[in-house]
Amino acid sequence: MQKKTFYITTPIYYPSGRLHIGHSYTTVAADTMARFKRMQGYDVMFLTGTDEHGQKIEERAKAAGVTPKEFVDEIVSGIKDMWKLLNISYDKFIRTTDGYHVSAVQKIFKKLYEQGDIYKGSYKGLYCTPCESFWAESQLKEGKCPDCGRDVHYAEEEAYFFKLSKYADRLIEYYESHPDFIQPVSRKNEMINNFIKPGLEDLCVSRTSFSWGIPVDFDPGHVVYVWVDALSNYITALGYGSDDTSKFEKFWPADVHLVGKEIVRFHTIIWPIMLMALGLPLPKKVFGHGWLLLDNARIAKSKGNGIDPVVLCNRYGVDAVRYFLLREIPFGSDGNFTNEALISRINSDLANDLGNLVSRTAAMVGKYFGGKLPAEREPGEYDDELIELATSTKIQVENYLDKLEFSSALAEIFKLVSRANKYIDQTTPWILAKDESKKARLGMVLYNLCESIRIISILIAPFMPATAKSIQKALGEHEHIYEWDSASMFRLLPAGAEINSAGVLFPRIDLQKELEELEAMDSAQPAGVTTVNQITIDEFAKIQLISAKILECEPVPKSSKLLKLTVDDGTTRRTVVSGIAKWYTPETLIGKTVILVANLKPAVLFGIESQGMILAATVNKDDVRVIFTDAPAGSVIS
Ligand code: MSP
Repeated sequence: MQKKTFYITTPIYYPSGRLHIGHSYTTVAADTMARFKRMQGYDVMFLTGTDEHGQKIEERAKAAGVTPKEFVDEIVSGIKDMWKLLNISYDKFIRTTDGYHVSAVQKIFKKLYEQGDIYKGSYKGLYCTPCESFWAESQLKEGKCPDCGRDVHYAEEEAYFFKLSKYADRLIEYYESHPDFIQPVSRKNEMINNFIKPGLEDLCVSRTSFSWGIPVDFDPGHVVYVWVDALSNYITALGYGSDDTSKFEKFWPADVHLVGKEIVRFHTIIWPIMLMALGLPLPKKVFGHGWLLLDNARIAKSKGNGIDPVVLCNRYGVDAVRYFLLREIPFGSDGNFTNEALISRINSDLANDLGNLVSRTAAMVGKYFGGKLPAEREPGEYDDELIELATSTKIQVENYLDKLEFSSALAEIFKLVSRANKYIDQTTPWILAKDESKKARLGMVLYNLCESIRIISILIAPFMPATAKSIQKALGEHEHIYEWDSASMFRLLPAGAEINSAGVLFPRIDLQKELEELEAMDSAQPAGVTTVNQITIDEFAKIQLISAKILECEPVPKSSKLLKLTVDDGTTRRTVVSGIAKWYTPETLIGKTVILVANLKPAVLFGIESQGMILAATVNKDDVRVIFTDAPAGSVIS
């Protein structure tokens, strides 16, 4: 019989910088599902990868003085290392620069053009460069990009358009007839009310303003809009559009696309419409998970060591990080990431509850039975309750995982961990051990504990694969006892089985000391350099710094602080008002060359329009020093 298949995807990541813990969140979740389904016997395809085209990457590469491909190559290799560290068991890693993807996207674009779903027109509108999106005025939030909150600018270009509107009714019908398509359900209403009902506009699907993209092969100068390129990865990775479509036939449609909530729109409107136009089945589910927040704001880049996944894994172990990500915050909701919450979880759930259960049990088998499970076992009070919970937890975990409720699934497993710990307290093996006539009862208690731990090791395996392995190694490798289905069976460990120590699975962490160390690590940055509020090279490039020679200088009437300067910026004279009167007299400045922020929005101070600002260093509040340069006026400073 053919195995059932399961196809799960993560978004493909922008290789524009180092990935942060927020990115790890989706990937750890997808990995857990992939492992779970593999254990259940499915033939799994778990896809992840990188989304490498677009203006942002082109600009970053330029700023770094390398080609876009060189730029992404290096980052992609770091991303792969990180997935290795986090034990991510992907089956395929797609890069949108891979040749098979490029040619398949060209075929998709051409097919849609030839059948009339894509047509040529021209685009006028407001464009957000970082998001690579055009927006209608009505979509802006306070005049800024509704996705990232940054400035948009007017842009106009000849472009191809995709007739989204033609498919709007079919899309709504699909939503209605497939209630599970968008999860959580609240996101479906958001799509309908905010995007589809107001009317779908045709989507601009090509760009001429940059060249780092997949060329439209029948119209040189145009590159494919990055979202059409990116979304196609879910089928091109399976060979769609190539000579070998066997994987596509086997795995498509996807069982679930996991995506962050801000990109649900692309996955539940543009992507299904593209598939409809291509005559292909739609994915079964798009799950829009919430964001990891830092101080209530979405983690958008690596801010400090305390949230760097590599640092966290090195300090606490990969499984502790994986556990925390999936346990702390319900998957559909936003939640704050704090080192304190992470450490508390490690201490309470992993070190105290799970770690202690395993180490106490192994130690008692060692002490009372020479490390071997005894054959004589006498049933007694509390056994049935423990066994009942141990054998029924699997089904609860399955139900929750099938709904992607990772946190609830883990809560069920840890109920069993707590129950087993309580069973130790109730049965008091150390007292039984004092009475030779209770030896068989003691044997049963420890056997039941080892069996519960065996079941726990199976159930945690998708979440914490390395920990599961360590526990299973300690319980001994016996055939078929660690398979998924064995998690609902009891009495599988054979009598005489050797039980070893699993070592310290999760060392307890001194919370206060650890928080201080993390803080010290972050503040070990050179003075004045902060990892918070970092700006990108693109943002820096927006500031025009020019050397300017001071031609005239006079105090501003009625102000004790301001001087009015007339400067030569290399092309013209301009007036700048500067708050340096306390430290400089006009005579000491005239003839000197300073650094001017040339594109600062003019401001009126004491009735004088200041057309820029000059740079000065604040040594302290009583000591401010203007920065002089010997570069000729008009030199660009970068
Ligand atoms: N390249 C697009 C996806 C194309 S899929 C066809 C993209 N890339 S991304 O690198 O910016 O983001 C990838 C994923 O990481 C998104 O699902 C995004 O929601 C997720 N996350 C980024 N920051 C996050 C948090 N702070 N918290 C949770 N997930 C976050 O979008």
